[in-house]
Amino acid sequence: MTPHINAKPGDIAETVLMPGDPRRAKWAAENFLTNPVLVNEVRGMFGYTGEYRGNRVTIHGSGMGMPSLSIYANELIAQYGAKTLIRIGSCGAMQHHVNVRDVVIAMTATTMSTPSRGIMRELNFAPCADFGLLERAVAASRTRDVATHVGGIYSSDVFYDERPDLTEIMTRHGILGVEMEAAELYLVAARHGARALAICTVSDHLLTHEALPAEDRERSFGDMVEIALAAAFD
Ligand code: HPA
Repeated sequence: MTPHINAKPGDIAETVLMPGDPRRAKWAAENFLTNPVLVNEVRGMFGYTGEYRGNRVTIHGSGMGMPSLSIYANELIAQYGAKTLIRIGSCGAMQHHVNVRDVVIAMTATTMSTPSRGIMRELNFAPCADFGLLERAVAASRTRDVATHVGGIYSSDVFYDERPDLTEIMTRHGILGVEMEAAELYLVAARHGARALAICTVSDHLLTHEALPAEDRERSFGDMVEIALAAAFD
């Protein structure tokens, strides 16, 4: 038991998929795992543990933003022994060649700040993905009917940003998209010797203002779950 997870010791698998939305964790567990069991529901942040092709896996919500993700990633790794954490989320595209519905796999995550800033102090640590997970996720994405981009993303502290100049700088420096969790996931994993990867579906476009229609979101989310499971186990 931790302050935010009431799972029993052993209830959490070594591999954890982390969508932002806890109801997505429930949906993914019910649609992709065999024998899913609810292992956490503190504050409505659902976690389910089940099996995928004979491998134990937990799907647990992270909440929105780096402070929320940081709490769950720390407790899952340090208290429950999670060793592989894969974020499955959404991002806003920052390049014209990246379209809504595409998948972005984050090699690095640039930030202005993270909850780890107090630990890192003057260090501009470069949060980066685990290469083995990245390599297998890219291979899995190539086998399906979804355009995939691999590169840097931007982990922001604000959804309602009032700095269009920042978007312009990110775009000019090749950042593929913006979301709000990956950098802290990579930092916490690095600190504890765990492996991490962030995979995002493009839900909206900061340059064209296009948005993914609601009916397409489930299919895109399903693609990501399959890519994440393949990256972890195939
Ligand atoms: N900004 C921040 N996070 C996001 C966005 C965005 O535009 N789209 C999806 N996650």
